Amino acid sequence: MNILFMGPPGAGKGTQAERIVDQFAVPHISTGDAFRLAMKQGTPMGLKAKEYVDQGLLVPDEITNGIVRDRLLQDDCSKGFLLDGFPRTLQQAEALDGMLADMGRSLDHVINLKVDRGLLLARLTGRRICKSCGSTYHVLNNPPKQEGICDKCGGELYQRSDDNEEKVGTRLDEYISKTAPLLSYYEGKSLLREVDGEQDIDVVTAEIVSVLRGSN
Ligand code: AP5
Ligand code: ZN
Repeated sequence: MNILFMGPPGAGKGTQAERIVDQFAVPHISTGDAFRLAMKQGTPMGLKAKEYVDQGLLVPDEITNGIVRDRLLQDDCSKGFLLDGFPRTLQQAEALDGMLADMGRSLDHVINLKVDRGLLLARLTGRRICKSCGSTYHVLNNPPKQEGICDKCGGELYQRSDDNEEKVGTRLDEYISKTAPLLSYYEGKSLLREVDGEQDIDVVTAEIVSVLRGSN
């Protein structure tokens, strides 16, 4: 199954992706995670991406498209994938269509997690992530059992450098001007399904699962 998650920063794409990839046995492809890893490793691509990520701006399309193209060609994507955070511009969406067409494949589901802008700032500034396994928590909405420690692996939790008020503002502006127009692109292809991302995390997961199983 070839799945795409859309939604503004903080809508819950990563949180839901962690759960859905377990149930549907497809790899999770997050361009944001790929950039953070490359930045941590200090690769040439990571250093270039850092100039944009650190400011809350989108990384140029040619860099981003290349990462996704390479990833989709890997063996574990042959039975499907879950794309999270890509595409984010019309040019990326058209590039993705081209990549999939070259592979004789197409998207099965595009799910948009809808969350009001007013909730996103609190979600992002309260987010904490495990340094070891990448699991996502929230200090109020989804706290770990022990403060600062991952429930799953015991790893230390940290805050992303772009999860402060100023960067979140820029990321939301980027989303509105460059990414939100993609919703009508996928609506035009009759692929778009909206899920209310303001509900409890488990309720959102259940709704996504029923869309993916075709029972909703
Ligand atoms: P990326 O890592 O993709 O960040 P993002 O889109 O800003 O999305 P987030 O990861 O911030 O949010 P999310 O929707 O995954 O929310 P989460 O589940 O964690 O991108 C980072 C940067 O990389 C970009 O700014 C850009 O520079 C670059 N980049 C990446 N892709 C790119 C591309 N395609 N093109 C160009 N540049 C690109 O949830 C957030 C918080 O809310 C958590 O604490 C969670 O616990 C909590 N929460 C989740 N669901 C709920 C719920 N239902 N109720 C209450 N709390 C909830
Ligand atoms: Zn962990």
